[in-house]
Amino acid sequence: MSKLLKHLKPGITQETRLEKIHNVIFDNSKIGSKAVAREIADLIKYKQSKNQKCILSLATGSSPITVYEELINIHKKEGLSFKNVVTFNLDEYYPISPNNAESYHTFMYENLFNYVDIDDNNVNIPRGDLKKNEIEKYCKNYEEKIEKLGGIDFQLLGIGRTGHIGFNEPGSSRNSITRLIKLDYLTRQDASKAFGGIYNVPKTAITMGVSTILKAKRIILLAWGENKKDVVFESIESEITQNITASFLQKHKNSTFVLDKVSSSQLTRIESPWLVDGNVKWDLNTKTRAVTWLCKKTNKSILRLSLRDYIQNHLSELAANQSIHDLNIEVFNRVQRTITGWPGGKPNSDDTYRPERAKPEKKKVIIFSPHPDDDVISMGGTFQRLVDHGHDVHVVYQTSGNIAVSNDSVLKFLEVYSDVFYVNDNFINSAKNKLLDSNEIFDDKFIREVATKIREKEALAATRYVGLNDKNVHFLRLPFYESGKIVKNKTSKNDIDLMNQIISKIKPHQIYAAGDLADPHGTHAVCIKLLFQSLNKLKKEKFMNNCWVWLYRGAWHEWEINEIDMAVPLSPQQVLKKRKSIFFHKSQNNTVMFQGDDKREFWERVEERNRDLAKQYRNLGMADYQAMETFRRYHFK
Ligand code: F6R
Repeated sequence: MSKLLKHLKPGITQETRLEKIHNVIFDNSKIGSKAVAREIADLIKYKQSKNQKCILSLATGSSPITVYEELINIHKKEGLSFKNVVTFNLDEYYPISPNNAESYHTFMYENLFNYVDIDDNNVNIPRGDLKKNEIEKYCKNYEEKIEKLGGIDFQLLGIGRTGHIGFNEPGSSRNSITRLIKLDYLTRQDASKAFGGIYNVPKTAITMGVSTILKAKRIILLAWGENKKDVVFESIESEITQNITASFLQKHKNSTFVLDKVSSSQLTRIESPWLVDGNVKWDLNTKTRAVTWLCKKTNKSILRLSLRDYIQNHLSELAANQSIHDLNIEVFNRVQRTITGWPGGKPNSDDTYRPERAKPEKKKVIIFSPHPDDDVISMGGTFQRLVDHGHDVHVVYQTSGNIAVSNDSVLKFLEVYSDVFYVNDNFINSAKNKLLDSNEIFDDKFIREVATKIREKEALAATRYVGLNDKNVHFLRLPFYESGKIVKNKTSKNDIDLMNQIISKIKPHQIYAAGDLADPHGTHAVCIKLLFQSLNKLKKEKFMNNCWVWLYRGAWHEWEINEIDMAVPLSPQQVLKKRKSIFFHKSQNNTVMFQGDDKREFWERVEERNRDLAKQYRNLGMADYQAMETFRRYHFK
């Protein structure tokens, strides 16, 4: 039996009583992927021992990549053979040539088949290059081929933000079989980064149907990270609906969702465990979570919560060991003490309950910014206060961010340059023509260098506006980012060395960094991992004893109230000043290249987020501020 199935059964234990699909939560996607790869490897070996073929149905996308990496490892290190394996892929874009870099054919070979000993004749991937009138017959044959081989032994799935499995978009019926389907806008938007813009993403795909998938003997669905938490919750705890085709898995007897901490965070047993679990461990953190949750539920501030509110909302056990009066005050103080207008510490004052130390009065500070603008977007108000309070603030831009400068912006600078200085050589002209002709991202050293410089100069304009001397602004240009493409290089010692050098040189008392731990593939996640590696390496250095690390959240997500250790309020004037500092990043205004599904500009999103946080604090009964920036302390020792 699969080791994964030994974990909590759905609907049976008290914690899982609201869950209708078996799921296992891992600390991170890497550990989860290893467990899944192990199950697949065991199945292949079991089938080998019986002299049988092993029929796998495979998924593409970001979610299974580490599972495939791990299977390749097992093949190399343990000699796992794929000779008895027959694969069927779930889907393929249509129309698309198998040789296209973005086709799922290319994906499967690049991520798995090229590195294992599978027989090419045993690989089946729907073809995206059929003629329209061939599709129906082709799909029928695909189904028949699966059936002839005795059906799918193991089905690997990802889940789309529309809740799709395969490309079974909302509306797909329980009985659907392999067919051509129109892709949802959201699905195409998610693919737009890889295709270099939504308009290049095919509008249709060939996909196995829901019923094809449900016939598999064993199903594992992988879901990692922030983007999946809503659909994971809906699929597992809501009713079955064709609006979220993953919910059909509720009816499958042998399926498991493999999740990480973030993708599982909306499940009731995680989000509000007191509703299902009688054994919650009540420390100050869980108390804060429960009390702030109760405030939202009852629309009351902390100090107005009554015993009756606790009892009526399944929190009576909190009243068992402590009076509600004391509990309310305890949590109120916990939240209240996160607020400070002195992010670098308040000189000459008792700092027992303040988020930062009073001493040393003037601190050396590093603000790490993954791209040249995250500093002002995410903590522009706090940055300004640190400078105004006389701390020695350094901004370190980790990557050049040059991929996010549009061709128009680069062209504009080249045209101004060649017009003003009468430079009209072939070199410049050929770059101009390239940029005029196409929207593609050019992996061209010269063009990327202009883009890098545009971002550096914008960053300098912004930091000068905040009041920083240019010598305190550092551009690391971490090599992992410099692939010239959307897909980045793997990190190397060179990246970590650059991080170590700058930290050792400045010897900071405070480090601020983008703590977007949830984002599994983005640049922010790579940058924070590099910082953690660097802290680990430097932690024995003497100066590190005095170094505190504060994590801010990037443009997308916010900390939960119980996660916040420091909240810096912003007045209306400070909000306007922050907005202006963001505006200096002109190449990122109006034409943000990688906007995702949120069409608001960065300054709009962040203003709303900062305002919303202040509102949350106000609703809990704290002082009424215009906006707030928040931080979580990271303890690295
Ligand atoms: C891919 C597939 C899709 C993806 C889903 C999630 O073969 O069938 O259902 O699994 O769109 O994609 P990622 O993993 O990229 O988030």
